[in-house]
Amino acid sequence: MPQVVLETERLVLRQFTPDDLDALAELYADEQVMRYIGAGGARTREEAARSLAAYLADNQKLWAEDVLKRLPPLQYVQRTPAPFGIWAITLRDGPAAEAQPIGRCGLRAWDIDGSAEAEVGYVLARRFWGRGYATEAARAVRDFAFRVHEFPRVISVIHRDNVPCKRVAAKLGMTHLRDWENHGQPVEIHAVEAPR
Ligand SMILES: CC(C)(COP(=O)(O)OP(=O)(O)OC[C@H]1O[C@@H](n2cnc3c(N)ncnc32)[C@H](O)[C@@H]1OP(=O)(O)O)[C@@H](O)C(=O)NCCC(=O)NCCS
Repeated sequence: MPQVVLETERLVLRQFTPDDLDALAELYADEQVMRYIGAGGARTREEAARSLAAYLADNQKLWAEDVLKRLPPLQYVQRTPAPFGIWAITLRDGPAAEAQPIGRCGLRAWDIDGSAEAEVGYVLARRFWGRGYATEAARAVRDFAFRVHEFPRVISVIHRDNVPCKRVAAKLGMTHLRDWENHGQPVEIHAVEAPR
Protein backbone atom coordinates (compact mmCIF):
# COMPACT_ATOMS: atom_id res chain seq x y z
CA MET A 1 0.00 0.00 0.00
CA PRO A 2 1.67 3.28 -1.08
CA GLN A 3 2.22 5.79 1.68
CA VAL A 4 -0.06 8.81 1.63
CA VAL A 5 2.04 11.93 2.20
CA LEU A 6 -0.54 14.72 2.03
CA GLU A 7 -4.27 15.15 1.63
CA THR A 8 -6.08 18.25 0.45
CA GLU A 9 -9.74 19.00 -0.15
CA ARG A 10 -9.80 17.25 -3.54
CA LEU A 11 -6.45 15.47 -3.82
CA VAL A 12 -4.29 12.80 -2.26
CA LEU A 13 -0.53 12.98 -2.72
CA ARG A 14 1.01 9.57 -2.24
CA GLN A 15 4.33 7.91 -2.89
CA PHE A 16 4.82 6.35 -6.32
CA THR A 17 4.84 2.56 -6.75
CA PRO A 18 6.22 0.39 -9.61
CA ASP A 19 2.59 -0.02 -10.79
CA ASP A 20 2.46 3.67 -11.77
CA LEU A 21 4.66 3.25 -14.85
CA ASP A 22 1.78 3.25 -17.37
CA ALA A 23 0.28 6.45 -15.94
CA LEU A 24 3.65 8.18 -15.74
CA ALA A 25 4.63 7.08 -19.26
CA GLU A 26 1.33 8.49 -20.59
CA LEU A 27 1.93 11.80 -18.79
CA TYR A 28 5.52 12.01 -20.04
CA ALA A 29 4.55 11.12 -23.62
CA ASP A 30 2.50 14.32 -23.93
CA GLU A 31 4.63 16.91 -25.72
CA GLN A 32 2.54 19.80 -24.37
CA VAL A 33 2.87 18.64 -20.78
CA MET A 34 6.64 18.17 -21.05
CA ARG A 35 7.39 21.20 -23.22
CA TYR A 36 9.00 23.22 -20.42
CA ILE A 37 10.30 20.40 -18.22
CA GLY A 38 14.09 20.08 -18.23
CA ALA A 39 15.38 20.21 -21.81
CA GLY A 40 11.74 20.03 -23.00
CA GLY A 41 9.84 17.60 -25.20
CA ALA A 42 7.98 14.31 -24.83
CA ARG A 43 9.76 11.50 -23.00
CA THR A 44 9.88 7.84 -24.00
CA ARG A 45 8.56 5.04 -21.81
CA GLU A 46 12.19 4.21 -20.93
CA GLU A 47 12.77 7.78 -19.75
CA ALA A 48 9.55 7.63 -17.72
CA ALA A 49 10.80 4.38 -16.18
CA ARG A 50 14.08 6.08 -15.21
CA SER A 51 12.15 8.94 -13.59
CA LEU A 52 9.93 6.46 -11.77
CA ALA A 53 13.03 4.64 -10.49
CA ALA A 54 14.28 7.97 -9.11
CA TYR A 55 10.93 8.63 -7.40
CA LEU A 56 11.00 5.13 -5.88
CA ALA A 57 14.54 5.83 -4.63
CA ASP A 58 13.18 9.06 -3.09
CA ASN A 59 10.66 6.92 -1.16
CA GLN A 60 13.58 5.05 0.43
CA LYS A 61 15.79 8.15 0.60
CA LEU A 62 18.30 6.14 -1.41
CA TRP A 63 20.42 8.84 -2.97
CA ALA A 64 23.83 8.16 -4.51
CA GLU A 65 26.92 9.45 -2.69
CA ASP A 66 27.74 12.01 -5.40
CA VAL A 67 24.15 13.34 -5.27
CA LEU A 68 24.33 13.67 -1.48
CA LYS A 69 27.64 15.49 -1.76
CA ARG A 70 26.31 17.85 -4.43
CA LEU A 71 23.01 18.50 -2.64
CA PRO A 72 23.70 18.82 1.12
CA PRO A 73 20.00 19.40 2.04
CA LEU A 74 19.43 15.74 1.15
CA GLN A 75 21.92 14.74 3.88
CA TYR A 76 19.74 16.66 6.33
CA VAL A 77 16.42 15.17 5.16
CA GLN A 78 17.98 11.69 5.18
CA ARG A 79 18.35 12.01 8.95
CA THR A 80 14.66 12.89 9.43
CA PRO A 81 11.68 10.51 9.16
CA ALA A 82 9.61 12.88 7.00
CA PRO A 83 9.25 12.05 3.30
CA PHE A 84 11.12 14.13 0.72
CA GLY A 85 10.64 13.52 -2.97
CA ILE A 86 8.26 13.59 -5.90
CA TRP A 87 4.79 12.16 -5.24
CA ALA A 88 1.81 11.03 -7.30
CA ILE A 89 -1.19 13.37 -7.38
CA THR A 90 -4.40 11.35 -7.21
CA LEU A 91 -8.04 12.37 -6.94
CA ARG A 92 -9.76 11.89 -3.61
CA ASP A 93 -12.86 10.68 -5.47
CA GLY A 94 -11.14 7.43 -6.44
CA PRO A 95 -10.25 4.54 -4.17
CA ALA A 96 -7.88 6.98 -2.39
CA ALA A 97 -4.32 5.69 -2.22
CA GLU A 98 -4.83 3.21 -5.07
CA ALA A 99 -6.11 5.78 -7.55
CA GLN A 100 -4.24 6.39 -10.81
CA PRO A 101 -1.84 9.35 -10.75
CA ILE A 102 -3.11 12.42 -12.64
CA GLY A 103 0.23 14.14 -12.22
CA ARG A 104 3.13 14.57 -9.90
CA CYS A 105 4.08 17.11 -7.26
CA GLY A 106 6.71 17.21 -4.57
CA LEU A 107 10.07 18.41 -3.39
CA ARG A 108 13.39 18.33 -5.18
CA ALA A 109 16.80 19.55 -4.02
CA TRP A 110 18.79 21.98 -6.18
CA ASP A 111 22.18 23.62 -6.14
CA ILE A 112 21.61 27.02 -7.74
CA ASP A 113 25.15 28.33 -8.19
CA GLY A 114 26.17 27.21 -4.70
CA SER A 115 22.86 28.00 -3.03
CA ALA A 116 21.10 24.91 -1.62
CA GLU A 117 17.40 25.14 -2.41
CA ALA A 118 14.26 22.99 -2.19
CA GLU A 119 11.92 23.18 -5.15
CA VAL A 120 8.17 22.62 -5.17
CA GLY A 121 7.56 20.98 -8.56
CA TYR A 122 4.23 20.27 -10.24
CA VAL A 123 3.13 18.53 -13.45
CA LEU A 124 -0.45 17.62 -14.34
CA ALA A 125 -2.04 15.58 -17.15
CA ARG A 126 -3.55 17.96 -19.70
CA ARG A 127 -7.16 16.89 -19.23
CA PHE A 128 -6.95 18.04 -15.60
CA TRP A 129 -5.54 21.53 -16.27
CA GLY A 130 -7.44 24.66 -15.31
CA ARG A 131 -9.24 23.30 -12.22
CA GLY A 132 -6.83 24.64 -9.61
CA TYR A 133 -5.40 21.19 -8.88
CA ALA A 134 -1.74 22.21 -9.33
CA THR A 135 -2.16 25.15 -6.97
CA GLU A 136 -3.96 22.96 -4.43
CA ALA A 137 -1.24 20.27 -4.52
CA ALA A 138 1.67 22.72 -4.56
CA ARG A 139 0.29 24.75 -1.62
CA ALA A 140 0.13 21.59 0.48
CA VAL A 141 3.72 20.70 -0.50
CA ARG A 142 4.94 24.26 0.22
CA ASP A 143 3.34 24.17 3.68
CA PHE A 144 4.79 20.70 4.32
CA ALA A 145 8.26 21.98 3.38
CA PHE A 146 7.94 24.85 5.85
CA ARG A 147 6.15 23.04 8.68
CA VAL A 148 7.82 19.63 8.62
CA HIS A 149 11.23 20.20 7.02
CA GLU A 150 11.52 23.76 8.34
CA PHE A 151 13.12 25.01 5.13
CA PRO A 152 13.61 28.78 5.24
CA ARG A 153 12.24 29.11 1.70
CA VAL A 154 11.13 27.09 -1.30
CA ILE A 155 11.67 27.83 -4.96
CA SER A 156 10.26 26.96 -8.35
CA VAL A 157 12.47 26.64 -11.44
CA ILE A 158 10.32 27.87 -14.31
CA HIS A 159 10.96 28.16 -18.04
CA ARG A 160 10.79 31.83 -19.04
CA ASP A 161 7.81 31.20 -21.34
CA ASN A 162 5.81 28.93 -19.01
CA VAL A 163 3.00 31.34 -18.09
CA PRO A 164 0.64 28.87 -16.30
CA CYS A 165 3.52 27.67 -14.12
CA LYS A 166 4.34 31.28 -13.18
CA ARG A 167 0.67 31.82 -12.28
CA VAL A 168 0.77 28.84 -9.95
CA ALA A 169 4.03 30.13 -8.41
CA ALA A 170 2.42 33.54 -7.84
CA LYS A 171 -0.54 31.88 -6.13
CA LEU A 172 1.99 30.17 -3.83
CA GLY A 173 3.23 33.64 -2.87
CA MET A 174 6.41 33.30 -4.94
CA THR A 175 8.19 36.20 -6.57
CA HIS A 176 10.80 36.26 -9.32
CA LEU A 177 14.19 35.99 -7.63
CA ARG A 178 16.58 35.75 -10.57
CA ASP A 179 17.15 34.37 -14.05
CA TRP A 180 19.13 31.18 -14.52
CA GLU A 181 19.82 28.47 -17.09
CA ASN A 182 18.87 24.78 -16.84
CA HIS A 183 19.53 22.16 -19.52
CA GLY A 184 20.41 25.03 -21.85
CA GLN A 185 16.96 26.56 -21.31
CA PRO A 186 16.32 30.07 -20.01
CA VAL A 187 14.58 29.66 -16.64
CA GLU A 188 13.49 31.90 -13.82
CA ILE A 189 13.89 31.11 -10.14
CA HIS A 190 10.78 32.07 -8.20
CA ALA A 191 10.82 31.85 -4.39
CA VAL A 192 8.74 32.31 -1.25
CA GLU A 193 10.11 32.63 2.28
CA ALA A 194 8.72 30.60 5.19
CA PRO A 195 6.30 32.55 7.38
CA ARG A 196 7.88 33.77 10.63
C1 LIG B 1 1.53 24.37 -14.80
C2 LIG B 1 0.42 23.38 -14.51
C3 LIG B 1 0.91 22.38 -13.48
C4 LIG B 1 -0.78 24.15 -13.97
O1 LIG B 1 -1.79 23.21 -13.59
P1 LIG B 1 -3.29 23.68 -13.31
O2 LIG B 1 -3.92 22.69 -12.38
O3 LIG B 1 -3.97 23.95 -14.60
O4 LIG B 1 -3.04 25.02 -12.52
P2 LIG B 1 -4.11 25.90 -11.76
O5 LIG B 1 -5.47 25.61 -12.32
O6 LIG B 1 -3.90 25.70 -10.29
O7 LIG B 1 -3.64 27.36 -12.14
C5 LIG B 1 -3.23 27.66 -13.48
C6 LIG B 1 -3.13 29.16 -13.64
O8 LIG B 1 -2.53 29.42 -14.91
C7 LIG B 1 -3.41 30.21 -15.68
N1 LIG B 1 -3.21 29.85 -17.08
C8 LIG B 1 -3.41 28.66 -17.65
N2 LIG B 1 -3.09 28.73 -18.96
C9 LIG B 1 -2.68 29.99 -19.19
C10 LIG B 1 -2.23 30.69 -20.34
N3 LIG B 1 -2.09 30.07 -21.50
N4 LIG B 1 -1.89 31.98 -20.21
C11 LIG B 1 -2.02 32.61 -19.03
N5 LIG B 1 -2.43 32.01 -17.89
C12 LIG B 1 -2.76 30.70 -17.99
C13 LIG B 1 -4.78 29.90 -15.16
O9 LIG B 1 -5.72 30.91 -15.49
C14 LIG B 1 -4.49 29.83 -13.66
O10 LIG B 1 -4.28 31.10 -13.08
P3 LIG B 1 -5.45 31.90 -12.33
O11 LIG B 1 -5.94 31.02 -11.21
O12 LIG B 1 -4.78 33.12 -11.84
O13 LIG B 1 -6.53 32.15 -13.35
C15 LIG B 1 -0.04 22.62 -15.77
O14 LIG B 1 -0.35 23.57 -16.76
C16 LIG B 1 1.01 21.67 -16.28
O15 LIG B 1 1.09 20.53 -15.85
N6 LIG B 1 1.82 22.14 -17.23
C17 LIG B 1 2.84 21.30 -17.81
C18 LIG B 1 3.94 20.96 -16.83
C19 LIG B 1 4.63 22.19 -16.33
O16 LIG B 1 5.02 23.03 -17.11
N7 LIG B 1 4.79 22.25 -14.99
C20 LIG B 1 5.38 23.39 -14.35
C21 LIG B 1 6.84 23.31 -14.33
S1 LIG B 1 7.52 24.80 -13.57
